[in-house]
Parts: sequence; C-alpha cells; structure tokens
Amino acid sequence: MNTYHIPVMLKETLQFLQVKPKAWYIDANLGGGGHTEGIIKARSKVLGIDLDPEAIREVAKNHHLEVKLINDHLQAISADLILYQSNFAHMGEVVKKLQLDKILGVLFDLGVSSHQLEKPQRGFSFNLEAPLDMRMDPQHMTVTAADLINALHENELTQLIQKYGEERYAKRIAKKIVEERKKQRIATTNHLAQIITSVRPKSKADRTHPATRTFQALRIAVNDELHSLKEALPQVLEVLSPGGRLVVISFHSLEDRIVKNFFKDENKKGSIKIITQKPLIPSEEEVKTNPRSRSGKLRVAEKL
Ligand SMILES: C[S@@+](CC[C@H](N)C(=O)[O-])C[C@H]1O[C@@H](n2cnc3c(N)ncnc32)[C@H](O)[C@@H]1O
Repeated sequence: MNTYHIPVMLKETLQFLQVKPKAWYIDANLGGGGHTEGIIKARSKVLGIDLDPEAIREVAKNHHLEVKLINDHLQAISADLILYQSNFAHMGEVVKKLQLDKILGVLFDLGVSSHQLEKPQRGFSFNLEAPLDMRMDPQHMTVTAADLINALHENELTQLIQKYGEERYAKRIAKKIVEERKKQRIATTNHLAQIITSVRPKSKADRTHPATRTFQALRIAVNDELHSLKEALPQVLEVLSPGGRLVVISFHSLEDRIVKNFFKDENKKGSIKIITQKPLIPSEEEVKTNPRSRSGKLRVAEKL
C-alpha cells in the first residue's frame, strides 16, 4: 500500500477520464502519484504537477527518474512521465514550455496529502506538535501560518477564519488568539490548537476536533488555494483537446462551489458538457478503508 497517500476515488477517476493509450494527461495534484500510477498503467502519459518538492522527489524515486533543479524548481522527465514542480495556476505556461499537445484529460485532486499532514515538520496538523508552517512549497513561499496568526489584526483574523474555515465561532477564536499572542508568540500547532479548544464549544453533532476549521482556514490562506483553483480552471479549457475530460475531486464546500460555478458558466457558454449533474461521493467501502476520502466530491466535464 502507498504510505505517502492513498488515492481517492481512483476507479471512478480512471473511468471518467476515459484513459486512452499513448495520450497525455495532466495530474495537477501529483502528491504520492497514486492517480498518476493508474493512468500510466493504462499505457498513457502523464504530466504530474505539484507545488511540493517532496511529492516530486517521492514519485521520481518510485519511477527511478533523475530529479533536476531547473530555474530553481524540480523537474524529472521520461518518455511517458514528466514531473514538474509548479503551482497548477501556471498550467498553461508549463504545457507551452514542454510543448505537449493533444491533452485528453486533466485531473485535480485538491488539498493536502496524507504525507503533508503526517510529517510533523510541515505544521499542517493539530494532532502533531510542530512549528505552525503549512506552506506547500516552503522554499518559495515566505509567509507561514504562524506569521498570519501573529500579525493580522483581530478583524482580519476573524474574517479569514470565517471565510476560509466557515467557522461560526471565528470572532471568539480571533479574540482569544490576539489576547494570547500578547503574552507570547504563537509558534506551534499545539499552542494554537489549545487556544482554540479553550474557547470553541464542541457540539455533540460535530465529532471533528474544535481546531479543524481554523486550521483549514489557515492552510487555504497560506497557500492561496482558492485563488489558484480559480486561475487554473480556465487554463484547463485552453490546454485540453476537444472531447477531453476534466475531473475535479474537492474536499470542502468552498472548493466545490468554485468548480460547480465554473462548470455552470462554461456550460452556458457552450464550451463544456457537464457529465456529472450531481457530484459523486466515495463508496461506503472506500470511506471505511480510507476515512480521509469521506468528504471527497468528484465532478466531471467534457470539453466541446
Ligand atoms: C490530495 S494530494 C494529491 C494526492 C494524489 N492524487 C495521490 O493520489 O497521491 C494534493 C497535492 O496537491 C498539491 N497541491 C495543492 N495545491 C496545489 C497547487 N496550487 N499547485 C500544485 N500542487 C498543489 C499538494 O502539495 C499535494 O501534494
């Protein structure tokens, strides 16, 4: 089993991508390469993009590819697999640089990998004591979660937690953060989690950790996730061949809304056909074996 990350809705993704041999596909969220592996097994070719150098190195190692540092970003290239360290918001530029044509599918599997969550030094998880970091590309991004927590005004913090975490207790949490940081800089995941837990009630219906929504909000802000997705989606229509498929797996309503609205607008313009009227969710069996898949929603469109 892949310990880096278990791919979510793999069977459904491959079915909807309608993978054909010898064509190019883009995996915009390479991660541990689980979906990429599935596409390559169907004798197709993949451009795998990820912001995170650890993802590029992991998949390169598994495919015995040499990683090179080009213009300060990692790349590994073979006949049927190209690994490229980049934000998927630059997809159009990357495809042009590599001179790839006839791309028959693009996949987004948004969010963070299990590897990122489980490696304490990355600072994504409230369960592991670590510096509050959360940068997907620590080399090129300069602002960490700790920087935001310690620098934003109280009302900016409230807005950030409300908007990106959809947290109803945002105001209370922001107030407590500002109070606590006057005593001491908030520098670790545990410290922040304790602060949130001390003021956020745990409802009976909600079995998630009280810090879940605030941590999600910080991660989205640090990595500018929603903006990147909004930038990337129109580029997919530029790089995709007619008849090519776009598959997006999202993990929270903010991402899913962006995808849903993009599909609706482009469908109206006549540039795509929506294949999934309602998003697909993982089977009960998948959720049992891989609980991290539980909030996944998969939407598919075809370029006309
Ligand atoms: C859920 S994981 C992908 C897992 C992968 N599909 C697999 O099966 O192993 C999401 C990955 O997307 C990357 N990522 C997130 N936002 C990105 C962005 N804007 N551009 C490029 N990569 C991004 C993360 O670094 C992470 O490795």
